Amino acid sequence: MAPPPTLPENSFAASVHVATHLAPGWAQKALREEVRQAFTSMPKELSPRWLYDQRGSELFDQITQLEEYYPTEAERALLTAHASDIARTTGVGMIVELGSGSGDKTRTLLDAFQSQGTLRSFVPFDVSETMLRMAAGLLHERYPEAEIAPVVGDFNLHLDRLPSPQNRLLVFLGGTIGNFYPAERTIFLKSLANTLRCGEWFLLGADLVKDSKRILRAYNDDSGVTAQFILNSLHVLNRELDADLPVEDFSYVVVWDEDEERIDMRVRADRKIDATIGALNLPVSFAPGEELRVEISAKFHPEALVAELRAAGMVVHKQWIAAGNEFGLFLARREVEI
Ligand code: SAH
Ligand code: AVI
Repeated sequence: MAPPPTLPENSFAASVHVATHLAPGWAQKALREEVRQAFTSMPKELSPRWLYDQRGSELFDQITQLEEYYPTEAERALLTAHASDIARTTGVGMIVELGSGSGDKTRTLLDAFQSQGTLRSFVPFDVSETMLRMAAGLLHERYPEAEIAPVVGDFNLHLDRLPSPQNRLLVFLGGTIGNFYPAERTIFLKSLANTLRCGEWFLLGADLVKDSKRILRAYNDDSGVTAQFILNSLHVLNRELDADLPVEDFSYVVVWDEDEERIDMRVRADRKIDATIGALNLPVSFAPGEELRVEISAKFHPEALVAELRAAGMVVHKQWIAAGNEFGLFLARREVEI
């Protein structure tokens, strides 16, 4: 992933200290390894973490404002309705948010902890340093009494390096849990539970199984923003790995996988394509119609998710489900040794 080319127009951004767990050049190295593997096996596949360069993060923010993309507003409504309850129930002073992005919805939660008088520190954790700097600057302005301590890292690798001076609430919003495959999700939830001490809390936002037409529409918007977001992964490869993939000769393809209950987002070659990944000295070719999977977005049944959390060592104390299974919030506690 590219380093941030410029800092945003935000007077606080420059003064925010961002801790990083990513060694210089880490992202390029990881991307190289992944692409060497992904483009020499069938079917071709890339992991979604590469979607969030600066342009991708901006496009994701646009997605959250689309009329078709219901998860953001559904989750915001749940947070607005239940933030005080979450603050009262957990009573913690430190909130850590994984994959925090713009941190926009999180403010609802932070406001409730602030009103209650317990908010001491907030740790937004994200792989995108650009997003972190922008979000942290705004948060610093809004919560001057609280410590805002952003951390750059990969939530698949660096959970053990999160600060833990006091009781924490770990937050994972937006339905990002759906971007893992089931086996990866099990590993992620177990390592997350392992980083929590007994009694610490986990708040999970997850999108739920509902009418598939409604779900599909959220990932196939009329203005084509989601298509640009997914196709941007090819621009990332071109820029970061000196590749020459002709992005204009790929189309966005999205399907609802009924068996797996997940959205499947891919790019498809419109013609035969021969290209080179320069940094790897690797020729790659796509047959006409051949696809590269870029992201999945699984949808959940509340009772199955509660069982998954339980198997990982976290017990759900409260859950809030929006009408029509629009979205779910699950407040779990690490209660058992695993
Ligand atoms: N939580 C926000 C943003 C969701 S978008 C919301 O609810 O709207 C997903 C976020 O996760 C992005 O900010 C992206 O940069 C981050 N992300 C994706 N993969 C990651 C990884 N492996 N480690 C850390 N952050 C990651
Ligand atoms: C970040 N994640 C939860 C989004 C989702 O809905 O799976 C990513 C996204 N991809 C396309 N649209 C939104």
